[in-house]
Amino acid sequence: MSFSKKTIKDIDLHGKTVLLRADYNVPLNSAGKITDDYRIRQSLPTIKYLFEQDVKLIICSHLGRPTGPEDKKCSLKPVAERLRELIKPHSVQFINDCVGPDVSAAAAKLERGQVLLLENLRFHPEEEKNDPAFAKQLASLADVFVQDGFGVVHRAHASTDAITKFLPSVSGLLLEKEVDTITNVMDNPKRPLVAIIGGAKISDKIEVLNRLIDIADLVAIGGAMANTFLLAQGIDVAKSLADKDDIPLAKTVMAKAKAKAKAKSAKQPFVFYLPQDGVVASKLDRLARTRIVEWTSHDAADIENYPKLPPERDRHVLVDDKILDIGPTSASFIAGSIQLSNTVVWNGTMGVTETPGLHGPIGPFAHGTEIVVEAILGKFGHRPFSLVGGGDTVGYVEQRGLVDDFDHVSTGGGASLELMAGRTLPGVAALMDK
Ligand code: 3PG
Repeated sequence: MSFSKKTIKDIDLHGKTVLLRADYNVPLNSAGKITDDYRIRQSLPTIKYLFEQDVKLIICSHLGRPTGPEDKKCSLKPVAERLRELIKPHSVQFINDCVGPDVSAAAAKLERGQVLLLENLRFHPEEEKNDPAFAKQLASLADVFVQDGFGVVHRAHASTDAITKFLPSVSGLLLEKEVDTITNVMDNPKRPLVAIIGGAKISDKIEVLNRLIDIADLVAIGGAMANTFLLAQGIDVAKSLADKDDIPLAKTVMAKAKAKAKAKSAKQPFVFYLPQDGVVASKLDRLARTRIVEWTSHDAADIENYPKLPPERDRHVLVDDKILDIGPTSASFIAGSIQLSNTVVWNGTMGVTETPGLHGPIGPFAHGTEIVVEAILGKFGHRPFSLVGGGDTVGYVEQRGLVDDFDHVSTGGGASLELMAGRTLPGVAALMDK
């Protein structure tokens, strides 16, 4: 199914004043410098197209979850600087509010080919309240509204929902690409479809996990959420990050996976894969002494499909240990599965990738993730189509300089999860139909 909403290519924008909603919620370091500009770069095709239509361009966004306008670390000023570098020779003017007389005056003075970037929408609580009066004020700045902030369209806020009541509202090119790609992979994947899901909490990804168990041929779990699944099977995870509250959920997910595995034929199996081994250490340090630990048994979905472990290996997570990455047997199994697949959906790292290494960025707990990345990118021969779901996963591939190597790296975190789960996104639903 193709995108059903009108886009900037479906209406006449020539010479108009356009209000573009982007998601410039980018990470900043303590010095206020942008550490990952992927979301800004991904908005450029839309901006380029709009300039080809000779528009006057007003851009609005949120950044972080500010307590109020005094929360200076959430200012979009650093974004204005980066945008200026990226869209030269077009000028980018930054204004320190998003509504009010000064903003209206600046908008009225704007010329074709120029950008006015507004300050953080969330400095006004009315934004998150989906307040119509606030949306009307925003709308008064422009002739047309363009939604291109894929990362935020799962929120019904003034700049994603209410504003569409006041202006003709269409999609930008990034939003269209994101929705099309993710929907096509979920609805009509080239099989076999392998899903690799990491991250901290099962409850954060429960809907997408359930959907992937329904549609994928193999679902592999990594990251801290794997520890909760291990705990749910009675495996001691010592001091590992795990969520006791999610144990019932873990059991339900495993039961669903088991039922699907049973229902499938031997020719077309379904595998729900939990790590069989892990890298453990007592502290999160690049100099930490690490061990590989394997678990004795699994009551997972289809134990017959698991590689058999030799009996003499280390099987004990010690009292002070934390499981910080998947182990080599698990990484090889997942990499092997990727080699057999034609589509991979990947969301969440396999271990703690933030700890740097002694001699480079790849730390002692990032090897599982690295092997998954290499397998997806075809370093072992076969290269499936890859859809990488946003949030921390993007941060990692961006930091590794690999973000352009995958087929689609989503700019959305929660939005991509909700879309994958099959939910309607309010910020998309509110746009004009084709
Ligand atoms: C994101 O980073 O997922 C989006 O920008 C939305 O941010 P929010 O979760 O603060 O609404």
